[in-house]
Amino acid sequence: MKKIKIFFSALAVVAALQSCKDKNNLEEVVTVPEPQKEAAAPVGNPDDVKAEDAAGKFQMTKLPYAYDALAPNIDARTMEIHYSKHYKKYTDELNKATKGTDLENKTIEEIFATLDPENKAVRNNGGGYYNHGLFWEIMGPKAGGAPTGALAEAINKDFGSYDAFQKLFTEAATKQFGSGWAWLIVTKEGKLAVTSTPNQDNPLMKGQAVTGIPILALDVWEHAYYLNYQNKRPDYITAFYNVINWAAVTKKYEAALAKK
Ligand SMILES: [Fe+2]
Repeated sequence: MKKIKIFFSALAVVAALQSCKDKNNLEEVVTVPEPQKEAAAPVGNPDDVKAEDAAGKFQMTKLPYAYDALAPNIDARTMEIHYSKHYKKYTDELNKATKGTDLENKTIEEIFATLDPENKAVRNNGGGYYNHGLFWEIMGPKAGGAPTGALAEAINKDFGSYDAFQKLFTEAATKQFGSGWAWLIVTKEGKLAVTSTPNQDNPLMKGQAVTGIPILALDVWEHAYYLNYQNKRPDYITAFYNVINWAAVTKKYEAALAKK
């Protein structure tokens, strides 16, 4: 009886080993699929985004580069949402707020010069329209560094050095409480100055503490950086210096001086 038990036990062990072997073989021959990687959501083309009112007075400034052109400093998804949602909305609302009024016959700069601050629809959406249009233009891929030529000379003259300007501008952007903008402007005396404004206000608007013609703008609304930087606004500000298109800023500086 004992011998029979031993025989069957041995059979069980052999069967178990065979089973393991089969399983191993199965594992070897079956291709285990790779975990599905989440496909990067495709980004669109900024040229496909147009103001809702095709005949409206105010049309969107063309984004002069692709949504992903400023990465990794500003990521593609942030650029797409910023341009195709936020900026478009300001444009559409500005057209609605001015349609059929005498403001429709003025440029956006002329509107700011005489705007009633209580006209919140035009103040907020007009600011959003102008500020973002400038913001897109003064950034670019393969940019950054420091300005040269006449603008560099003016920065040295009015701030002492480029580093001194950068410190002031960073402080203005960092200390702007809540949503707003940091600016480099040309004052009516033809000098450079750094300032900041809340919400969508800008230095062209009547009644601002510091006024002048903006030549450089930094959007510090959370929608401009939160996807990539979360609450780290200082890191976003540092990255912004890598995408400043100083050639574009210099053109705006020269145009501002020509208006004096
Ligand atoms: Fe913005």
